[in-house]
Amino acid sequence: MKVLALNGSPRMKASSTYHMLTPLLEGMEKAGAETELIHIRKLDLEVCIGCYTCWVRTPGECIHKDKDSMVDAMELYNTADLVIFGTPLYHFSMSGIMKTFIDRTLPRIEPWLIPHPDIPDMTFHPERFHKPNKIMLVSPCGFPEFDHFESLVATFRHMAHMERFEYLGEILRPGAEALSRRSLQGLFTGYYDILRQAGEQIIRDNRISEETQADLRADLFPGGKKAFYDMAGSYWEQQMDRFKVPDEMRHTVPILADDLDSIPYAPGGTDLNLGVLRSDGRYLVPNEYMLNLMVGMFNPLAIPGLRATVQFNFSPPKGVDFDPGPADWYLNINDGVCTLHQGRTALPTLSITTPYEIWFDIGTGALIADSAFDDGKFEANGSITLLEQFSQIFQHPQPGEGGKSNPELDLIMMGMPTAFDAKAADDLDATIQFVLGGAGGGIYHLQIQDGKCISKREPVLDPDLIINAPAEIWLAISKGEIDGQQAFMEAKYRTSGDMNIMLKMGELFRSTGMPPSSVSQLLKPETLSPQEEKPMDMTQLNCRDTIAGMPSVFNPEAAGDLVAVIQFNVTGDEPGSYFLQIENGVCTFHEGESSSPAMTIQTPSEVWLAVSRGEMEGQTAFMQQKYTVEGDFSLLLKLNDLFK
Ligand SMILES: Cc1cc2nc3c(=O)[nH]c(=O)nc-3n(C[C@H](O)[C@H](O)[C@H](O)COP(=O)(O)O)c2cc1C
Repeated sequence: MKVLALNGSPRMKASSTYHMLTPLLEGMEKAGAETELIHIRKLDLEVCIGCYTCWVRTPGECIHKDKDSMVDAMELYNTADLVIFGTPLYHFSMSGIMKTFIDRTLPRIEPWLIPHPDIPDMTFHPERFHKPNKIMLVSPCGFPEFDHFESLVATFRHMAHMERFEYLGEILRPGAEALSRRSLQGLFTGYYDILRQAGEQIIRDNRISEETQADLRADLFPGGKKAFYDMAGSYWEQQMDRFKVPDEMRHTVPILADDLDSIPYAPGGTDLNLGVLRSDGRYLVPNEYMLNLMVGMFNPLAIPGLRATVQFNFSPPKGVDFDPGPADWYLNINDGVCTLHQGRTALPTLSITTPYEIWFDIGTGALIADSAFDDGKFEANGSITLLEQFSQIFQHPQPGEGGKSNPELDLIMMGMPTAFDAKAADDLDATIQFVLGGAGGGIYHLQIQDGKCISKREPVLDPDLIINAPAEIWLAISKGEIDGQQAFMEAKYRTSGDMNIMLKMGELFRSTGMPPSSVSQLLKPETLSPQEEKPMDMTQLNCRDTIAGMPSVFNPEAAGDLVAVIQFNVTGDEPGSYFLQIENGVCTFHEGESSSPAMTIQTPSEVWLAVSRGEMEGQTAFMQQKYTVEGDFSLLLKLNDLFK
């Protein structure tokens, strides 16, 4: 069977539509279909001007026939058995370019008005030929409800009915914007598998089974609207941060007080249920809890063999009615273990007397311990050298500007409910805390209850499981750049609490690229390694990620025994240096500058992004000197084959 998929998203390969069509077509091919995908935007279509030239002056031929690529596309359309109309929902309908495409199919029919061959009392235009036999619709949309597709579906159903195409149904995905983001692809591997199944079934059985249809409609955001809003809001905030949009330009329409409750990412908000009170952007937690978090952040590898006792005395938080519990506590560090004790110890190595707020800010990374001490914000006696080593010994999260974690990490953490498998959770009631230390880190927790999972950027008082990891390690594991299992073995991250939950993580979060799966590989060696589970070819929004994603589309056959390093020196809006190393049929991505690149590409980020998205032809851009190349030019000519 010949299948033609039309991608009506102007974002082409970066689109959610494309990410839905790709696994669907893979499934179809597996079942024996011959498939082809056209990005409609690439056809450069002129709009139908309603001149009826195709009906009268040159029957069957459009007036624009030499101006764009519609004739070629129509050849495929008119020989396909099944055409899949893939379009994002734009203003409750199809995208403009998809509509232009459909309008331009007018030459297929003749002007005469005759009774419809199948439908009583309905008028029809005779077709010059009857193809395709079947059609179906694939559509993502931004809003999280299915209702928005109503008129789009009605349009395609009516079109199929009138034009006598067998209608194989529709695959709709609300809340789909996240599908277009490269760093989140790991969250959707479960969904993509279902799309593959659907593709196979359509070719094999001419329909999608009811079970698969139900799976296709399953909520990808089991955390509910709140989790969804949170994730979406975080994404748009980060995009605005990227372009340094001032606060006053972010919300030009006031948010009604009632709405605030449903926008959890807005500053403020108190979650009394979880026992953490918040005031002035601070979580008010007992002293014991604050130090327990520190115990979790202790890194035994930082100073091997360290023996020390650190005494704390906290003054209570000011201006709020909150009792943080006993004021005196000490940490004991010995044999690579850090323990917390209440009271005072004789002869501590270091003694700290601090206002509650100051230590809180140190704990969340808003202040660095030794600089806060230099600024006289708290008192310390004893080994000041030890104090100076605190940022190594305790891996506090150190969020970036505006107290924000690394945006990519943040999206992955906030997106974890997306990959949550309610069936695997059964009646599990658990809270999992992530303390992600170091630059760009943050504290998150996942709350699993009643088959739902919610992610929050907040600490929680009594988590059942705590995962302590440096932010950069957790991010690299999440993206499959380093092996989770190995990192765990090498003590690059630690866990404490209920290990049963830890062992279940792989099932709870179906996504294959996510760390829990890697962790669960400790128990299931047969599970695919993160390398094999790399998401499909994704073009994406940011230049570094675009280059980092190239190994996932690397074609080892084309590379043969090639050994080469391709260096990218990116200038412009998103500057950076990266290189790709090709060896033994494997391509790996690295940050920084290689000492011996075979070829160096010097490019503004905008140019490389446009080339990757297919908006600019790579070799033409080179000829026009939009980017420059030094070294082995033959590699440049091979790039298209090396990265499919
Ligand atoms: C011009 C425009 C109009 C849109 N209209 C709607 C809409 O009516 N309803 C909706 O839920 N999402 C709407 N969206 C959001 C897209 O449907 C959503 O981001 C989708 O995932 C994009 O898919 P793509 O990546 O395949 O282009 C609109 C987006 C754009 C750019």
